[in-house]
Amino acid sequence: MPAEVFGPQYAFLPKSELLSFEEIERVARVFVRGGVRKLRLTGGEPLLRRDLPELVALLRGIEDVDDIALTTNGLLLPSLAAPLREAGLARVTVSLDALDPEVFGRMNGLGVHPERILRGIEAALDAGLGVKINTVVQRGANEQELRPLWEALRDRHVVRFIEFMDVGNHNGWDMTEVVPSREVLDLLGGGFEATNANYKGEVAARYRDAQGRELGLISSVTAPFCGDCSRARLSAQGMLYTCLFASDGTDFRSLLRAGADDDALFTLLSEVWSGRKDRYSEERFEVGARRKIEMSHIGG
Ligand SMILES: C[S@@+](CC[C@H](N)C(=O)[O-])C[C@H]1O[C@@H](n2cnc3c(N)ncnc32)[C@H](O)[C@@H]1O
Repeated sequence: MPAEVFGPQYAFLPKSELLSFEEIERVARVFVRGGVRKLRLTGGEPLLRRDLPELVALLRGIEDVDDIALTTNGLLLPSLAAPLREAGLARVTVSLDALDPEVFGRMNGLGVHPERILRGIEAALDAGLGVKINTVVQRGANEQELRPLWEALRDRHVVRFIEFMDVGNHNGWDMTEVVPSREVLDLLGGGFEATNANYKGEVAARYRDAQGRELGLISSVTAPFCGDCSRARLSAQGMLYTCLFASDGTDFRSLLRAGADDDALFTLLSEVWSGRKDRYSEERFEVGARRKIEMSHIGG
């Protein structure tokens, strides 16, 4: 969310436009009826949503949900990790792109010091949450940071290195800024061995070093995985998107607020899901530029 676009003058949505926790829970129940077993809270920054632990507790109450995860910039974890854990959250993914204060400050756009994120990670561990780290790799921005990051974090965390993607319309993406994952392994010093995926559709290819420490590579630019993608994304306004690079979605909020019953929601979900054809990452170099939903609306 670049400061030039989302600065102090930016008009954020009124609360009435956002799904209430009860509405999110209802939609989640319908998704679970359709076979969803894993829920992830992301954003935007999910920890900015007031009373978030209440939402986690509601989602925890849905039978058949095996896993609830959350992706965060980690800044508010010192105050929220314990209540989130108590509400039933099992694990968090914390984004951290560099340990050097200048590099990290530039990448987060606000000059936030990495020490604050490390404190958030500690708070999550103290609260009993599992912690994974997401590092987006951007050429000319943080290649030199990868090895220090890996060396500092590898004993306690799985680190996942993500190829810089052309999400949304504001990040000025250019292929020259993408560091292919195979190069990331070299930048980390080499000596890694590929291991098997945990489950079909897992987005990260997993590797271990000689000591068995695990890292993940998410290569959605150089090795797209559209064919295995099973993610559905629900925005805070209740739009369903079937692709991270979608141009439009399906409005669940209108149906909910018009009094539709769960069967009607389920029918709409089934129609959208069975009709999806998204494969943007496989076609990005053929389709050319198109308007996309911002990543801050639908998470990573
Ligand atoms: C969009 S963020 C939302 C959650 C939260 N605010 C955070 O910072 O983690 C989700 C993930 O997407 C990653 N991400 C953001 N921009 C990206 C890009 N252009 N390419 C690849 N990953 C990106 C972030 O680093 C983060 O790990």
